[in-house]
Amino acid sequence: MKLIVDDNKLDNIKRKAIENYVPILQDDSLKLIEVILHMIKPKKILEIGTAVGYSAAIFAKYLEIDENNKEGSYIKTIERNEKRFKEATENIFTLNLTEYIIPVFADATEYLTNLKEDDTYDVIFIDAAKGQYMVFLNEAKRLIKSGGVIIADNVLFKGRVLGGYNEHRHRTAVTRLREYIDNINDDKTLDSILLNVGDGVAISIVNK
Ligand SMILES: C[S@@+](CC[C@H](N)C(=O)[O-])C[C@H]1O[C@@H](n2cnc3c(N)ncnc32)[C@H](O)[C@@H]1O
Repeated sequence: MKLIVDDNKLDNIKRKAIENYVPILQDDSLKLIEVILHMIKPKKILEIGTAVGYSAAIFAKYLEIDENNKEGSYIKTIERNEKRFKEATENIFTLNLTEYIIPVFADATEYLTNLKEDDTYDVIFIDAAKGQYMVFLNEAKRLIKSGGVIIADNVLFKGRVLGGYNEHRHRTAVTRLREYIDNINDDKTLDSILLNVGDGVAISIVNK
């Protein structure tokens, strides 16, 4: 079974996010991820960076759900900003997705370390603080199922990552994103591709 998510309500969430300068997935990156989710048919998704729940609500359309959701398909999504977390929780309720989306109010760098290796995911989506991408990647490698896919958004950070950017302002973020790209290319357990879609999307298939 697939969930039907109200597109008008999704449009309202998107419009409000844009009006309030809440960063949400760009349309082309979102479309790419939707195609991947359509092919993978995930039962469990972990999202790092909820914002107001826009991407999580769209991902819910692609959850593979058995009768009465006996196997317990869901998306767990983590947000550390209280105002956004509250708005996400309201949006998930309005969209009737409370059974399928679990919003977690926490800093993901701490929360993820408490998740056990028996709590694994088909897809892990990284879309949070760029300076922490290596922490997220290491935790994602631990928590992804073998054959699962790790997706990271914003890895090109407006052209700064592959260019010669070395200014103080975004240096940590750019350095961590470069490390992220090097790591997914060097790690023999990952099959990775970096796509110049949106702000840069990295996709890694994990073979543990
Ligand atoms: C780009 S937005 C997420 C957009 C969302 N995935 C979407 O497309 O609808 C990034 C979010 O990650 C949150 N964030 C950043 N670092 C975080 C961390 N360490 N733990 C939890 N949330 C974090 C920010 O507060 C922000 O709301």
